[in-house]
Amino acid sequence: MRLLVMGPPGSGKGTQSKLITEKYGIPHISTGDMFRTAMREQTPLGIEAASYIEKGLYCPDDLTIKLISDRLSRPDCEQGFLLDGFPRTLPQAVALDGVLGEEGKNLSHVLKLDIDSYMIIKRLSGRRICPKCEISYHVDYSPPKVEGVCDDCGGKLIIRSDDKPKTAIKRLEVYLQNTYPIMDHYDQQDILYHIVGVGEIPKVFSRFEKVLDNGTSNGDEHS
Ligand code: AP5
Ligand code: MG
Repeated sequence: MRLLVMGPPGSGKGTQSKLITEKYGIPHISTGDMFRTAMREQTPLGIEAASYIEKGLYCPDDLTIKLISDRLSRPDCEQGFLLDGFPRTLPQAVALDGVLGEEGKNLSHVLKLDIDSYMIIKRLSGRRICPKCEISYHVDYSPPKVEGVCDDCGGKLIIRSDDKPKTAIKRLEVYLQNTYPIMDHYDQQDILYHIVGVGEIPKVFSRFEKVLDNGTSNGDEHS
């Protein structure tokens, strides 16, 4: 399985990717998580990434492509992987085709979460994350057992810096301009699946399982 989970900010990519990678035993590779770790550690990559992320803009393609090429060359990716949030520009998609193509590989499924903008804002405004394990919670839809505390590691939950309303709206605009169009790229390869992103988290997950286990998406279109 070489999967890409894509969708707008707050569509549930991270939440669903965690469930998918736990079930299918493949590494979860999230460029957003990798950038945030680098930001917390104040590495040169993190300092550069922060200057874009804090404004709701995408990080430069060359930086992001290098990050992913290095990650995909690690042995744990040999039997498959899940990419969460990469590629999100056409140059990134073309670069990924090249990196995989060199080894005679390609993506097996591109799974696109469909959700409307109103729901996105509701999700982002209530999100809390654990900075240690990057698990997302939601104050209403997916609260931790103890308010403000991560169920897994006991860490203190925080609001992501790019979830401020102005930055979140900017991220949505940037997504619509840059990432929405790359769906055509994958549609032409006949590996694009639309997943309805609305409904309870297990319900959405069952839609992914349908595609991954049976190759069908239960009324959600395979474009
Ligand atoms: P990234 O971290 O990937 O952010 P994003 O794409 O904006 O997506 P989010 O992580 O905000 O949302 P999500 O879809 O993962 O939703 P989640 O599961 O958390 O990237 C951050 C930044 O890094 C980018 O803006 C960019 O600057 C940079 N970057 C990253 N990749 C890049 C690239 N390839 N190129 C250039 N720059 C890049 O869920 C959201 C909330 O909803 C949570 O509270 C969750 O609990 C809740 N929720 C989830 N599912 C449900 C459900 N079914 N019902 C109710 N609530 C739900
Ligand atoms: Mg995410």
